[in-house]
Amino acid sequence: MKKIEEYVRSIPDFPEKGIIFRDITSVLQDADGLKLAIDSMIKLLDGVDFDVVVGTESRGFIFGVPIAYALGKPFVPVRKKGKLPCETISEKYDLEYGSAEIEMHKDSILPGQKAVLVDDLIATGGTIEACTKLIERLGGEVVKIIFLMELAGLKGRDKLAKYDVSSVITYE
Ligand code: PRP
Ligand code: ADE
Repeated sequence: MKKIEEYVRSIPDFPEKGIIFRDITSVLQDADGLKLAIDSMIKLLDGVDFDVVVGTESRGFIFGVPIAYALGKPFVPVRKKGKLPCETISEKYDLEYGSAEIEMHKDSILPGQKAVLVDDLIATGGTIEACTKLIERLGGEVVKIIFLMELAGLKGRDKLAKYDVSSVITYE
């Protein structure tokens, strides 16, 4: 059986020079790769007590929804600015290439709810750190953060020191 790293395609100099882009489309378009990725992420949640899965646009949706569905939990989307129709809160952040702003609906997390945060990849950690801020501003608690891939050299974990963070595979 193939390992996850054998399904990931690495593209040099995308979207800009110097970045090695870790492409998940090659994982998703293979039925075995997709199943292995979702099952491996679900294993990272063994023994975790939580109420809701939170995933960030767009690749966090791809992994977050099947995990929530499989575990019988609701899914809350964090979206890029300007996409959510009701009252929102927002955070700005920097990432490996560029900067962005994300939003959540104000009523998407209830005070005291335990959230698991899901994304495909951690690079600088800016995106997920912004998600933790949004959840906590709504009164939620981040009990676990999981990724399919971690780019350890960018030290994103340093921004998440106070959280329980796990990744299926790590690139140095
Ligand atoms: C990518 C990736 C993570 C984030 C990681 O998303 O899916 O969410 O970057 O980078 P960071 O740790 O430096 O914040 P991107 O913003 O490219 O959007 P996409 O999912 O819509 O492709
Ligand atoms: N998001 C931020 N950095 C990335 C990378 N190197 N590959 C894929 N997605 C990313």
